[in-house]
Amino acid sequence: MLKLLLKKGFLIDPSQGLEGKYDILVENGKVKKIDEEIFEPEAEILDVEGYIVAPGFIDIHVHLRDPGQTYKEDIESGSRAAVAGGFTTVVCMPNTNPPIDNPQTANYVLEKGKKVGLCRVLPAGTITKGRKGKELADYYALKKAGCVAFTDDGSPVEDSSLMRKAMELVVQLDSVILDHCEDDKLAYGAINEGKVSALLGLSERSPEAEEIHVARDCILSYRTGARVHIQHITTELALDIVKHFKDKGAPVSCEVNPNHLIFTEEEVLHSGANARVNPPLRTRKGRKALIKGIQEGVIDCFATDHAPHQTFEKELVEFASPGIIGLQTALPMALELYRRGVISLKKMIEMFTLKPAQILKLPYGTLREGSPADIVVFDPNKEWVLNEETNFSKSRNTPLWGKTLKGKVIYTIKEGKIVYKDK
Ligand code: NCD
Ligand code: ZN
Repeated sequence: MLKLLLKKGFLIDPSQGLEGKYDILVENGKVKKIDEEIFEPEAEILDVEGYIVAPGFIDIHVHLRDPGQTYKEDIESGSRAAVAGGFTTVVCMPNTNPPIDNPQTANYVLEKGKKVGLCRVLPAGTITKGRKGKELADYYALKKAGCVAFTDDGSPVEDSSLMRKAMELVVQLDSVILDHCEDDKLAYGAINEGKVSALLGLSERSPEAEEIHVARDCILSYRTGARVHIQHITTELALDIVKHFKDKGAPVSCEVNPNHLIFTEEEVLHSGANARVNPPLRTRKGRKALIKGIQEGVIDCFATDHAPHQTFEKELVEFASPGIIGLQTALPMALELYRRGVISLKKMIEMFTLKPAQILKLPYGTLREGSPADIVVFDPNKEWVLNEETNFSKSRNTPLWGKTLKGKVIYTIKEGKIVYKDK
């Protein structure tokens, strides 16, 4: 019997309302016991005094680019970045090549994830075949193959009638839509429509491009009863809409990418194409609204939208591929919000664990006795630099490249096995 005993860490597990110094005993990959002091002579001891201990983080929005674009990332490099960031479960988006619109590709992702054996890699299937927005994918087959949600992420579903049908089917399967909300015709350009786009003469993506789709899909969720999760929300009005429909009882939820909480459109002036992302970095006012959205509980969870691209794809802002890597920077960025007094540690951890688990009805994100022992141990004050030596992704597209970050994962444990250890 394999036993691991984590001693004297400061445990924060929002799923059980636990916050304090506890020992955790892990046996056969599961949480066996949590108590103020545990003695277990047969167990391997991990001294985690001085660190924060929490359920392993869950990221419901990552791009691992596998199959098809493995020069940007693959399931192995992506898994390494994930566990280094404290994530034990990731949901990978189906905008791969081929897309995850068929059971074979879903299987490939699941099997490769298992073979790599670091974090749990769960595929999301597409809403439409080939992500082309014309014909629905076979959700029954995709769910049977292990897809935990449906999304055309990267593109919106423009056809409202098709989206309504998708939702009706998702209700029958008790699944969830992960919704990339941006109207194609309004969001054709590179960065936020605002003073920086005007200054640099760059093409634009307007806030209403996002808000129109958020409104439509909240309405469709309200009418059909389908669980709809709005991805990477960025505007004040979009939040007002989500709040309105939550208040009316629609099963809608939303996520925020930490980059939208730390940066604004002005970051494009400093980081160029590495600050290009969809939806784009917006205004200071918008960022303030997002922070309020977290505090008021309108925003449910964090999601990194880890979107690796190579340097040659990130040269001119106007022509660059959109996206920012985020698996290793999410925790330091969220801790920055904690240090600014925006959120408590408990709230931060809830947004990385319990909330994403609830949105996808996953049995993780908790250290309740008997649950899989997915655990993260981190030092909120340890400083480190994101560079060639510390980065596990194959890509380096982030405004934080080369910067000193505060907050580091010390151990990541998945089902009782140490899958990452800080040097
Ligand atoms: C994502 C990508 O690169 O796949 N890019 C992005 O800017 N967020 C797609 C997406 O999440 O919309
Ligand atoms: Zn997206």
